[in-house]
Amino acid sequence: MKAINKWMCFSLLGFMLVFEYGCDSQSRGFALPQGDIANGKEAFFELGCNHCHSAGDIAWISNPDNIRIPLGGEVPSIKTYGELVTSVINPSHKISFKYREGMTTASGESRMRNYNEVMTVQNLVDLVTFLQDEYDVIPPPTPYHVY
Ligand code: HEC
Repeated sequence: MKAINKWMCFSLLGFMLVFEYGCDSQSRGFALPQGDIANGKEAFFELGCNHCHSAGDIAWISNPDNIRIPLGGEVPSIKTYGELVTSVINPSHKISFKYREGMTTASGESRMRNYNEVMTVQNLVDLVTFLQDEYDVIPPPTPYHVY
């Protein structure tokens, strides 16, 4: 009986080691190279993102449709790299509830311009690095009860 327990312990340890190395988050999944905040800011101007968005100290300019969506600022949960990349290259994939009204076309597509033919991958990487830096995560207060 004792021998079996020992065997089980060893195999469990072995499994845990394999699991640990197998799930190394550095080597798996989606990863883009390091971006540059200053270049991202520049790309934001060059691509005219500020016609519809303000971000940090970059003010909103204007656009014929009067679309005005501030980016950055305080958010209740982190904007992940993946979420921001998706918002830029596939804006209609997920449209935040607050933007559904007025910010989508009759067929439910985002009214954000599609940049995929003109934006370089480097622009995208830098833009996301710049935008991520503009968000501050402020978790909503959780009610604390003393029983
Ligand atoms: C013609 C107006 C327009 C332009 C120009 C524009 N956007 Fe947008 N953007 C929108 C609209 C409308 C939404 C909200 C609907 C949606 O999520 O697609 C949006 C949403 C976003 C979001 C998600 C915001 C959130 O809180 O979910 C990001 C990030 C974003 N845009 C980045 C960019 C970047 C970067 C550029 C420039 C490369 C850009 N946008 C140019 C109209 C625009």
